[in-house]
Amino acid sequence: MARRPSGISGSRRPSVLDAPTSISRRQSSTGSRRPSIDPSRLVPMDRASHIGGTEDFNVVFVGAGNIMFGSDEGPWNHSFRFEHKLGPRLKVVALIDPAIDRATAVLQKKCETFVRSAYENTRVFKTLEDFVRNMSKKDMPRAVIVGSPPMFRGTLQPGRDIESQIMKCFPGVAMFIEKPAATGPASEIPEAFAVAKKIDEAGTLCSVGYMLRYLKAVQMMKQIIEENNLTVMATIARYACAYEAIAKPDWWDKAKSAGPIVEQGTHFCDLSRYFGGEVDMASVSAHSLEWDENAGTLSKMQVDETAIPAENRIPRVTAATWKYDSGAVGSFTHLVALQGHNYSCELEVYADGYQLKLVNPYVQPVLYIRRPGSDLEEMHTFPDDDPFFSEISVLIDNIEDIEEDPDTAQILSSFQDACKTYELTWAIRLAAEQNRKLKLESQKAAAAAAPAPA
Ligand SMILES: NC(=O)c1ccc[n+]([C@@H]2O[C@H](COP(=O)([O-])OP(=O)(O)OC[C@H]3O[C@@H](n4cnc5c(N)ncnc54)[C@H](O)[C@@H]3O)[C@@H](O)[C@H]2O)c1
Repeated sequence: MARRPSGISGSRRPSVLDAPTSISRRQSSTGSRRPSIDPSRLVPMDRASHIGGTEDFNVVFVGAGNIMFGSDEGPWNHSFRFEHKLGPRLKVVALIDPAIDRATAVLQKKCETFVRSAYENTRVFKTLEDFVRNMSKKDMPRAVIVGSPPMFRGTLQPGRDIESQIMKCFPGVAMFIEKPAATGPASEIPEAFAVAKKIDEAGTLCSVGYMLRYLKAVQMMKQIIEENNLTVMATIARYACAYEAIAKPDWWDKAKSAGPIVEQGTHFCDLSRYFGGEVDMASVSAHSLEWDENAGTLSKMQVDETAIPAENRIPRVTAATWKYDSGAVGSFTHLVALQGHNYSCELEVYADGYQLKLVNPYVQPVLYIRRPGSDLEEMHTFPDDDPFFSEISVLIDNIEDIEEDPDTAQILSSFQDACKTYELTWAIRLAAEQNRKLKLESQKAAAAAAPAPA
């Protein structure tokens, strides 16, 4: 595969330090690339060879936490996927994290392994500004990978504007931003869209971490819809997390993590949108089962919920429905109900004669397909599929701008699209809260109207 020859695009704004190599300015949502990926091209990491070329591929990581370096909680670990995709070309020039000790410890661990060459010269900084002040021309990144908590991004406010900082310091350099696009009050949603507009106007290549879009099963569903020219009639999503395994107190506090729909259900709201299209936000309606209702009692919580203010405690069940602009109907139920470790998640997509049912996408995806004229369900499994790898692989291919392969995919989740998912998750939370408020008010009114005991 040939890479586009190195050279800086003529229209690019000058940077403090110019990149030593080519800078791709391809928009993630435009261009000649396929809007979906041929599922047969999504190969597990152990069967993928690292990208060609020999020159260093400089990367900056923002955040030294679980998403970047892995944890027992799940299969995520971006650094591992970068190592496999870029091989010896990977050079992590900086790791940005205010928790210097944590950052230093993860680097130390990497330097004890065979990937040492990627990390032996990595410098740790508390902020991106510190890095920019101290960098030399050879440190210029090709990509900045952001895995800091969402409260520090997705706005235009100082300290919460990492996307704008990156574009200012490194114009034309690609970004990867973890989901959700932001967390803050709903009143800040327009700011997230303003960030998206800045990214689009700058022509910055940006991928957002909705990795389930890169699942082989999901791309097979897309392929069936495209090849049969289907119109989606409905999406039905269910996400039941294993709450016993969630020990982060912030997760249980709406004021800290924005609640389970915005923080966690977002993956399934995003997948629903991926198949259903634009959502009519005014149509979103939702109900919740709350912590203080009898059916909402949980016996195996690992955190002390009494330490969380009552108004910030999370719902146990949230069930939402909405209309897509196409006329199709979407529904989503999120449950904080299961114990043990594994989540139970399913997405069904319906079109005339078709049922596409995706089961267990996080652990071992299975796709059940029912086709026209048949009552039978085909079952497809996808052993060793790794959407985290595919997501990073597509990002790097886009940055490297591999031109000879017309099947190289587009980035599947742009910042603007991620903002729409963010907006949907907030619409669900607000609709559920509004219905709860109405119920409490009517209960209060009924109690006030009840005749006093004799
Ligand atoms: N796609 C997925 O399946 C998936 C999985 C896990 C996490 N995530 C997302 O990744 C993000 C991070 O989650 P995590 O589990 O790694 O959290 P974490 O708490 O393990 O790590 C976050 C790290 O960011 C650092 N940090 C805090 N403020 C910072 C700042 N201003 N700049 C740079 N670093 C800062 C913290 O010190 C910490 O080391 C979240 O948005 C989360 O939703 C996505």
